[in-house]
Amino acid sequence: MAVEVVVGAQWGDEGKGKVVDFYSEDAEIVARFNGGDNAGHTIMFGANEFKFHLLPAGIVRKGVTAVIGNGVVINPEVLLRELADLEAKGIRGYKLFISERAQVILPYHLVLDGLEESAKGGMKAGTTKRGIGPAYSDKVARFGITMGDLLDADLLKQKLEVAIAVKKKLTAAYGQEQDFQFKKIFDTYYEMGQKLKKHIRNTSSLLVQAIQRKKSVLLEGAQGTLLDPDHGTYPYVTSSNAVAGAGAIGSGIGPRAIDWVVGVTKAYTTRVGEGPFTTELKDDIGIHIRKVGNEYGTTTGRPRRCGWLDLVALGHAVDVNGLDALAVTKLDVLGGLRRINVAVAYRVDGERTTIFPANINRLARAEPVYKELDGWEAQSPAEWTSMAKRGFSHLPSAAQEYLEYVCGELGVPIELVSLGPSREATIDLRDELREGPAQRP
Ligand code: IMP
Repeated sequence: MAVEVVVGAQWGDEGKGKVVDFYSEDAEIVARFNGGDNAGHTIMFGANEFKFHLLPAGIVRKGVTAVIGNGVVINPEVLLRELADLEAKGIRGYKLFISERAQVILPYHLVLDGLEESAKGGMKAGTTKRGIGPAYSDKVARFGITMGDLLDADLLKQKLEVAIAVKKKLTAAYGQEQDFQFKKIFDTYYEMGQKLKKHIRNTSSLLVQAIQRKKSVLLEGAQGTLLDPDHGTYPYVTSSNAVAGAGAIGSGIGPRAIDWVVGVTKAYTTRVGEGPFTTELKDDIGIHIRKVGNEYGTTTGRPRRCGWLDLVALGHAVDVNGLDALAVTKLDVLGGLRRINVAVAYRVDGERTTIFPANINRLARAEPVYKELDGWEAQSPAEWTSMAKRGFSHLPSAAQEYLEYVCGELGVPIELVSLGPSREATIDLRDELREGPAQRP
C-alpha cells in the first residue's frame, strides 16, 4: 500500500469512514491529520456499530496502529469517552498515539464558537459548535495549548492563565461575561492529560520511521475539499485544511512521502450547514435522496441538503488534491430514479464556466448546466451486495454508464464503488487499476 491519503472530495460526509475502514485492512498505521470532533463516521465492525468523532477509523482493526496527528484539534473529554466506548464494546489492546503537538479544545472555545456564529448573522457557517474554529484560531494566534502541554503543569498553568484572561475580555466584548475558572479548568485538563499520557508522543518521528521501514500508512482526512478554508466555499468552511497536502503537514511527514491520493465522493452531493450549493435539490427528488440515503449528520443530527453530482466542484477537488483515483459511495441510493442529472458546467452572469468560482456571491449566482443520464432500478440491499460480490460488470448497465461518464469527464479512474454500509457491499477495483495505465504503488 505505501503511503496513501484519503480525502473528502465534496462537503464532507462522503463515506470516508467506510472507505478508510475498508483500506485499513492493508494498512499498518492509520493517521488522522485534520479537524476534530466535528467529524463523524459510522463504522460497522463485526456485530458492533462504532460512531467515531475523533478516533481514526482503523483503530478497531487488530494490528493497526492509530495516530492522531499534530494537525488535529482534540477535545480530551470526547476522546476519553470514545476510548471508554471502544473498551465497553470489547476492543482492547488497540494501539493509539496522539501527537504532543495537537491542539486542545478548551471550554472557552466551545463558548466562543457560539458567540462568533451569532455575531456573524447571515454569514454564519452553521458550525457543529464543537469549538473547532476558535481552537484553530488560537493555534495560529499563538494562544493555543497542546496535548504535550497538558503533561507539563508549569507550562499549562502559564499558558492557561494568559488564555483565560484574554477569553474573559473577548466574551465580554461579544456581550457575554464569562467566569472561566482557572483552577477548575487546570485541574480537569491536567487530570485528563494524565489519563491520556501513555498515548501522547512525537508522532511525526513514529510515522517517518515507519515510512522508512516501508510500512503501509493510511492518512485519513476529515471533512472535505469544499470545506477547506483555502480551497472551499470560504467563509462557509471549516477551520482546518482538508485537502491532500494537509495530509503531510498535519501528520508531520514530507510531501514526497505520499504515494497515492484517493478522493471520496458520493454518487450525488450533500451539504450540512450554510453556504452556496449549486446543484441542491429543493424538490421531491432532494427529499427522496435524503430519505433513502439517510442523510442526517452523524455529529449534529441535522438533515443534510441533497443535490445532484457536480462535476465542476469535483473537478476542482481533482485539481487541488491531485487525485489519483476516486472512491464513489452510495451509488445504490440513486436506484429508482428514472433520470439522473450531473452538472457539467455553471452558467454565471450569462457566461458558461467549468471553473469553480472563488467569490462566494458569484458562486451563489451560478446555475448548473446539466447532462441528463438514464437512471436504474432500485434494488434491495441484498441484491446490491450480491452485485458487489459479482463485480462491476454486474451492476445495472445505466449505473455502469453513469460511473464511466463521471470518470471520463474528470479524467480520474474509479477504484472503489460502495453500494451500502457493509464491507461486502463494495466493489474493489484497485487491483485492476494497479495493472492499468495509472500505476498504483
Ligand atoms: P465547524 O467545522 O464545526 O467549524 O463547522 C464549519 C462548517 O463545516 C459547517 O458548515 C459544518 O456543518 C461543516 N462541517 C464540519 N465538519 C463536518 C463534517 O465532518 N461533515 C460535514 N460537514 C462538516
